[in-house]
Amino acid sequence: MKKLTDQAAFRHGGEINTRIAQSPMLTNSGIDEKVSHDTIDYYATRSQSAGMVIVEYTNVSPNGGPSRSWARNREQLAIYDDRFIEGLSKVANVLKKDGNKAILQLAHSGREAAYRYTLGGRVEVPSAMNFPWINYPLHELTEDEVWQIVHDFGNATKRAIKCGFDGIEIHGANHYLIQQFFSSFSNHRTDYWGGNLEKRMNFSIEVTREVLKSVKENAPKDFIIGYRVSPEEIHGNNIGYTWHESQKLVEKLTKLFDLDYIHLSTMDYAGKPEDSELNYAQLLGKSIKTPTLEMIAGGIHSIKKMNDALKYADIVSLGRPTLIDPKISYKIKNGLSKEIYLEFNKQSVEDSHLTPGLIELLPNAPYFYMPGVEYLKELSNVKLDSTVTHNGASGKTTDKDYK
Ligand SMILES: Cc1cc2nc3c(=O)[nH]c(=O)nc-3n(C[C@H](O)[C@H](O)[C@H](O)COP(=O)(O)O)c2cc1C
Repeated sequence: MKKLTDQAAFRHGGEINTRIAQSPMLTNSGIDEKVSHDTIDYYATRSQSAGMVIVEYTNVSPNGGPSRSWARNREQLAIYDDRFIEGLSKVANVLKKDGNKAILQLAHSGREAAYRYTLGGRVEVPSAMNFPWINYPLHELTEDEVWQIVHDFGNATKRAIKCGFDGIEIHGANHYLIQQFFSSFSNHRTDYWGGNLEKRMNFSIEVTREVLKSVKENAPKDFIIGYRVSPEEIHGNNIGYTWHESQKLVEKLTKLFDLDYIHLSTMDYAGKPEDSELNYAQLLGKSIKTPTLEMIAGGIHSIKKMNDALKYADIVSLGRPTLIDPKISYKIKNGLSKEIYLEFNKQSVEDSHLTPGLIELLPNAPYFYMPGVEYLKELSNVKLDSTVTHNGASGKTTDKDYK
């Protein structure tokens, strides 16, 4: 029987002291794509939220972001240049100070780079097509440009290692570029990168191959390599891929590569597809080759659910609960479960050190509902304006304190 408070060991030797991970979550705190004080304060507060904290989606390519900007003057973080190393090293450092692991999620936004368009940049996609909900032009990547992004993932990995992260997670989920290549809805290519299922897997495979190559060349032996996937992409009649196909993807990835873990991104960890009695974690778990571990995220918002989720996966991944209580894993490990904050209120908000960008985002994102989120509404107008502003993509930040 797996227990939350167990240690878990990854195949390359990395160990975490609970079976709890913090899910990657954007903090809306980047300034000119760099880490800000807000970013560091938020992560420093989360050094005991989990055995491993997966830092938010961070852009690997000059043309991969910024993704949507959810709050005024705040951008997605990036790692496509050495100038990002200093700030991200601070994030890795503050996260590791209590002995837990710091993992960086590597992403290319593809068509989701709406803010990039606002700043005058070109938005890249596998296939230039009409998405009814997108109102900016899209550029279809050439074969060479796709290879360049593959190499960008490798270079970003090298930088993440330099920063001192204990591992990286490849963001293959949530409709970002890697998923866009895997999806038959958004990938209509007929070259190496698209066509049948095998070819739609090629981008995921080449990115993973490049990341592993960079890890073998640059990282300590116990460096952790994860891959995040959404178990299926079905929106009404639009079927990007089914769980049957993502089973094949994770099987292939874990057969070809010695990944430490596969991370399922869902909004309900116990969710099932229409054509099975088993849930996604069980179904994909069957196809993940051991000793790669399985991690599951989605609605694991109580101790009961954490224990239940552990029946299906090796590690539980908590998103919103760590926004409300940054010491959640510490409290569980030390028999203080009764003291876990379950909602936003005066005390929990004070202790949570949310970034101003999150305080602005969360009350306006019903999709991410959390108990007590109304409380943040009162704060959202106050905080953001009192911090930093900047003048656009290439402008200088006006925050005197920010280094
Ligand atoms: C504010 C916020 C930001 C998020 N940003 C990311 C992200 O950067 N990368 C990612 O893979 N998922 C992201 N997600 C999804 C979470 O990682 C997680 O899968 C989801 O919130 C479900 O888990 P939960 O019910 O424990 O919150 C985000 C979720 C929230 C609430």
